[in-house]
Amino acid sequence: MTSAPTRIAILFSGTGTNLRNLAAHINAPHVPATLELAICNRPDAKGLDFCRENNIPHELIDHTNYSDRAEFDAAMHAALQAANIELICAAGFMRLLTPEFVQHWEDRILNIHPSLLPAYKGLHTHRRVLEARDTSHGCTHGCTVHLMRPEMDEGPILVQKQVDVLPDDTEDTLAARVMAQELIAYPEALDMMLARLRG
Ligand code: GAR
Repeated sequence: MTSAPTRIAILFSGTGTNLRNLAAHINAPHVPATLELAICNRPDAKGLDFCRENNIPHELIDHTNYSDRAEFDAAMHAALQAANIELICAAGFMRLLTPEFVQHWEDRILNIHPSLLPAYKGLHTHRRVLEARDTSHGCTHGCTVHLMRPEMDEGPILVQKQVDVLPDDTEDTLAARVMAQELIAYPEALDMMLARLRG
């Protein structure tokens, strides 16, 4: 049984809705964790403003400054090691990570994906669900929090939340309903992992 709070890093690339939500959850007094670092790979990401305004330790590691994925991942790995990170939450982090990086952090990186995995891996999930009006999945959609593995959007599932696809849904209305579930799913999955890691 560990008593020191678990040291968490969040990786993000964009708006940072999940970043904000996770930051609030981690900072809640009953959660045995601390947000030690946020890493972003895009200088124009809105989530960076949230970090600046809320004094969240953060690093911009712009992937365009690195010649390949291995170099970029090495820079991220160094930042995570320097902050003694124990658990990583990828929250809208839109870069594929090298197998070496993922294996090094195996069972210590969570990822959120806006679909009911294994359906709709990859990008533009809401659009693709609407295009397919996929009856094989009962016209449902949703989100998944899972442990990251080297293959994209693969890995043991921790939490899934389902939403119905409505006849008049647009990409935006569907995305908003899925996001509402993401904001419930990620804290739940994080709590599960913290309970597992802390025994
Ligand atoms: C979220 O919907 C998340 O599930 C998705 O990116 C969005 C980020 O939004 N992640 C992926 O597609 C990863 N494959 P946010 O920055 O506002 O949290």
